[in-house]
Amino acid sequence: MDKFVIRGGNPLTGTVRISGAKNAALPAMAAALLTEEPVILENIPQVRDIETERKLLVAMGADVELGYGRAQHRTTICCRNLVNAEASYELVKTMRASTLVLGPLVARMGHARVSLPGGCAIGARPIDLHIKGLEQLGAVIAQEHGYIEAQAERLKGAHILFEKITVTGTEDLLMAATLAEGETVLENCAREPEVVDLASLLNKMGARIEGAGTPTIRVQGVERLRGARHRIVPDRIEAGTFIIAAALTGGDLSVSSCEPRHLDALLQKLEECGVQVSATGDSVRVSGNGRPKGADVATQEYPGFPTDMQAQYMALATQAEGTSVVTENIFENRFMHAQELVRMGADIRIEGHRAVVRGRTALSGAAVQASDLRASASLVLAALVAEGETIIDRVYHIDRGYERIEEKLRGVGAQIRRIGELLPKRMVAPEVAV
Ligand code: EPU
Repeated sequence: MDKFVIRGGNPLTGTVRISGAKNAALPAMAAALLTEEPVILENIPQVRDIETERKLLVAMGADVELGYGRAQHRTTICCRNLVNAEASYELVKTMRASTLVLGPLVARMGHARVSLPGGCAIGARPIDLHIKGLEQLGAVIAQEHGYIEAQAERLKGAHILFEKITVTGTEDLLMAATLAEGETVLENCAREPEVVDLASLLNKMGARIEGAGTPTIRVQGVERLRGARHRIVPDRIEAGTFIIAAALTGGDLSVSSCEPRHLDALLQKLEECGVQVSATGDSVRVSGNGRPKGADVATQEYPGFPTDMQAQYMALATQAEGTSVVTENIFENRFMHAQELVRMGADIRIEGHRAVVRGRTALSGAAVQASDLRASASLVLAALVAEGETIIDRVYHIDRGYERIEEKLRGVGAQIRRIGELLPKRMVAPEVAV
């Protein structure tokens, strides 16, 4: 199993280029199930979750070309000859986002058999709201042997109010509603840029969607969708991770090919901490100017502070002046990184869904273990400022969502290397789904 060996102390300088957003690419690939025609997606990140989704679609009979390389990162997906409408436990257990195929399959094929995802490292994460919404659209859903079986002749438009804001739930029902008969109104929707990106792709495919990015989305169902070409939005979480890396190491880094508008909550928080950040065009420049001040943060749905940046922010808080309180409001168990940071010398006290972080603690390199994608990123960040060498185990978690992170970090001055590549890169079997 791969590990990262990181020697701390180098400020990050130069320019790092941000990849396409994993969490936008995954629903976009699922959207290809809605049409017989090819869907071409550009700016696809080269991460393991994309490979998992490719396997998922291929197992259904889809033709998926996935090409990486200079200026490519493109996939062409053609779902003309689907042989089954099933997402197996083997794949769903490695990636929860596999459940995004449920809505499109029922809408286009009239049936779907999708494994329930089971437990997750960061919280319970049920998909009850996806199921309830599909039932409101007229699907008949049964659950047996760990699978959801859904049937519908043709889905019918409905008025659906999400009891809780859910990102993939919004995406799943949005896709289903595109082919439903009549109008669907989705209320209390997630407003994440990834939802907006999906709606933009679906509209290019011939869907009639209005209001994506606001709490209310209206969809006029159409008989069929066609192929389209679409460029995936930049990954705001990858961008945010590099921005914090620069703030932490006191570097001077340009984070390019990103969308600064999607980073507002993070950039505002960093300004509050006294970090110098400036956004121009598709780039954010971060200049480290001494130690940041601590500031409290509470995760919220977009446009609030993202839960996917909470772990990385906590690494920064360990080095900031004063005490910072980090409150996690989205997931019930997303502080797994805290104990690993403590092993590196951080002073963090967990009180329910709050973490009290006392700043300015000297970190020292240690052997630590990654527990999920964003937790792994926070350990990499801490290691960049720790004294001596840190060895991070289970980096397959980070490979799920960060493209060549070690190469990108090395390119801007970090001392990081990957060891133990006994199996081909990014192919090591994961143990939990996040
Ligand atoms: N929830 C329910 N019922 C549902 C769906 C969600 O109770 O049917 C709850 C969840 O348990 C959670 C809250 O609602 O407490 C929000 O979950 P949400 O459904 O929004 O999360 P998700 O769609 O499963 C996506 C991202 C996550 C990100 C969250 C929150 C993708 C593929 N995943 O997950 O990304 O943390 O939204 O922003 O888009 C990551 O990239 O590391 C990651 C975990």
